[in-house]
Amino acid sequence: MAVDSTAGKAGKKKTGSDSILYIGLDLGTSQSAIATSNGVRINTASVVGWPKDLISFKLHQKPILFGDECQRNRMSLDLFYPLEKGVIYSKSSNAKEPEDAERKSAAPAEFIRHMIYLAEPKEKQQVYLVVGAPAEASVDDKQAIINATEGLVDSVLVVSQPFLVAYGLGMYGFTLVVDIGAGTMDICRMHGTIPGESDQKTSFKAGTFIDDMLYNLLSSKYPRANLTKSMATQFKDKYAFVGDINEQISVELIIDEKPTRCDITNEVKEACESIIPELVSTLRNLITTFDPEFQANLQENMLLAGCVSRMKGMPHLIEHSLANLGKVDVNIVEDPVFAGAIGALKLGEDMPLSEWQQM
Ligand SMILES: Nc1ncnc2c1ncn2[C@@H]1O[C@H](COP(=O)(O)OP(=O)(O)OP(=O)(O)O)[C@@H](O)[C@H]1O
Ligand SMILES: [Mg+2]
Repeated sequence: MAVDSTAGKAGKKKTGSDSILYIGLDLGTSQSAIATSNGVRINTASVVGWPKDLISFKLHQKPILFGDECQRNRMSLDLFYPLEKGVIYSKSSNAKEPEDAERKSAAPAEFIRHMIYLAEPKEKQQVYLVVGAPAEASVDDKQAIINATEGLVDSVLVVSQPFLVAYGLGMYGFTLVVDIGAGTMDICRMHGTIPGESDQKTSFKAGTFIDDMLYNLLSSKYPRANLTKSMATQFKDKYAFVGDINEQISVELIIDEKPTRCDITNEVKEACESIIPELVSTLRNLITTFDPEFQANLQENMLLAGCVSRMKGMPHLIEHSLANLGKVDVNIVEDPVFAGAIGALKLGEDMPLSEWQQM
């Protein structure tokens, strides 16, 4: 669902333009971004870190760290990720130790608190928050996000992430939006009204799925190489492509303690293309189950968002794979990092007061 009436809560709004700070939050599996009505635009890694011990606490001089600062200091921190596969941790998950479970369940609220702090609300200013969630997030998943904002905001809405991307770009008419992030691939069919459940699809064939496959393929091809998952992610971010390219991709790996140049072209292609069949079949399904008179409008207005959409050759391969349906036109959003947060901010600012209060 897009704007879900079960997925929000609101306090009483004060009047006056400056009395409310609107925040659009794209809460992502690997990174999150905010866009606010006071002009703040910030993105950071979605991670919370607690110092491992006394020495680490002395080093950092703070009880908790967030985002990119955690990445830089990961050796001395216990890291927790607020989202897994696009949804926030729920207590039933099987964390190893009680302390881990406690921190894991605290991480989403701590992270959201930090993002709101970065938004610089003024004293006494009310905070109205719109959060992007996976297209098919369950009522429970949305409620978990709302619960994590308890006491931090005056009102909150949880809205389909690809819908927010389209809304931010003013694409209210026929559009198929695809947002491929680290944890989820979210697809939304827009047709001039708030999209319904049948217009939205979520799959876990996304960035982390590609990373795991690339790591496994490279580990089989170069079994004696000193390889980590994080290296596989870095190779993907730098070289990701689908379809055909005219160049060879080679990287330096340490094999038997010696730096060695290794060809990874076929492995990068196979891993990156592993998400394409599901993407194409979902798009085909959303097109062919639509009113036949308007199917062409959908396929001529496809929009790719999310950082995995930056894989070279994506628009061409999708257009080629759906060519038997007729003319297909695929474009990529200019700013995949902030498109969702900007759409969330715009929706928050546009939403009439009465609508917020009905949530
Ligand atoms: N040029 C690139 N080509 C392919 N993948 C990339 C590229 N740059 C970043 N990525 C990958 O994109 C993913 C992050 O994208 P994004 O920030 O849209 O996801 P997210 O919002 O954190 O996740 P989600 O929306 O699934 O919760 C990561 O898997 C990252 O490795
Ligand atoms: Mg995302």
